[in-house]
Amino acid sequence: MTFGWCFSVCILFVLVGLRLEEANAQFLREVGTKKLAYWSIVVDQSGHGNFTTIQSAIDSVPSQNMYWVSIKVKAGIYREKVKIPYDKPYIILKGEGKRRTFVEWDDHHNTSQSPTFVAMADNLVVKSISFRNSYNNPTNRKLIKPAVAAMVSGDKSYFFRVGFFGLQDTLWDDTGRHYYKLCTIQGAIDFIFGAGQSLFERCSISVIGGALDAGLPGFITAQGRTNSEDGNGFVFNYCHVFGNGTTYLGRPWRSHARVLFYKTNFSNVVQPAGWDAWRYHPNEGNITFAEYGNFGPGSDTSQRVSWMKKLDLETIESMTSTKFIDTDGWLQKQPF
Ligand SMILES: *[C@@H]1O[C@H](CO)[C@@H](O)[C@H](O)[C@H]1NC(C)=O
Ligand SMILES: *[C@@H]1O[C@H](CO)[C@@H](O)[C@H](O)[C@H]1NC(C)=O
Ligand SMILES: *[C@@H]1O[C@H](CO)[C@@H](O)[C@H](O)[C@H]1NC(C)=O
Ligand SMILES: *[C@@H]1O[C@H](CO)[C@@H](O)[C@H](O)[C@H]1NC(C)=O
Ligand SMILES: *[C@@H]1O[C@H](CO)[C@@H](O)[C@H](O)[C@H]1NC(C)=O
Repeated sequence: MTFGWCFSVCILFVLVGLRLEEANAQFLREVGTKKLAYWSIVVDQSGHGNFTTIQSAIDSVPSQNMYWVSIKVKAGIYREKVKIPYDKPYIILKGEGKRRTFVEWDDHHNTSQSPTFVAMADNLVVKSISFRNSYNNPTNRKLIKPAVAAMVSGDKSYFFRVGFFGLQDTLWDDTGRHYYKLCTIQGAIDFIFGAGQSLFERCSISVIGGALDAGLPGFITAQGRTNSEDGNGFVFNYCHVFGNGTTYLGRPWRSHARVLFYKTNFSNVVQPAGWDAWRYHPNEGNITFAEYGNFGPGSDTSQRVSWMKKLDLETIESMTSTKFIDTDGWLQKQPF
């Protein structure tokens, strides 16, 4: 009787132990104090890696993947479109530097067909690589079209030192919680758009409004929140807005758009009015466009639109903290 009871308890502990181990295994392999990916794949155009294209490396990851897989991409310009499908979470895509490893294509048939890089899966880490849609290269004399460099639709995605280059609709921050740190995002028209719930920290926002017809201002953001209850919105912390031509900070893509610039350095590319209501005049009351603690010649708010929101400090603190995108601790579990 006693033995039987003890035996059952022991079995129970062993089973619980195995369950925990399995749960950790979903994330990382621990070697000493280091946390490592379960396996690594090397992409190298010269043929010295496992694959010569990024897509073939992603295709080799099993469906419903449960283990962090690192895909290291050697320096070079990869002329291919890359897609991480829904069923391939836990991928770490790492280049050799955002000025050294480029993924480049030039589709422009329509917005959804155009992205050079598409990320549908949750739990993604991307580092030290750049995505470019070269269709609207400003030196070309073509009609400007929406041409997306990257579309991010998965949840729990982290981008570190990643570049996004385009002109119109460069970064489609579609949906999910995203953290962009030390990234460069370049464009002129609506070049950060979508309904993602995203924190952009210490990013360079490179405006190339000079590519537009003389005097036409561009728009950095076109945020897509549709409802005052929705958690999404774009928050820019300690960023740097600079470049050529002139730009508004944003216009609402959808009725309840939400964008905050915080402690950001604005050069004189920023239009004195700051924001545009686009199709939502006279319903500006539903829009949350706000600025707090910014500096530089473009930060003077004396001529800003009258409907710009004044957020209270508590709201500003909650939006500029990583808690804005992480209430369940996912950021801590990511292999930074
Ligand atoms: C990648 O190539 C290395 C070196 O040839 C090899 O050891 C490794 O098993 C390969 N990995 C995969 C996932 O194919
Ligand atoms: C975009 O183009 C693709 C491919 O030609 C097509 O299948 C799709 O329906 C188009 N989407 C829209 C929204 O027009
Ligand atoms: C604007 O800046 C971009 C990026 O530095 C550059 O390529 C482009 O030539 C500039 N355009 C003008 C009109 O100065
Ligand atoms: C702000 O940006 C300008 C260039 O746009 C730069 O010259 C200046 O040093 C920056 N200020 C700070 C405090 O980083
Ligand atoms: C906000 O949007 C609702 C519809 O969603 C509209 O009825 C209302 O008038 C708008 N409010 C303001 C202040 O613009």
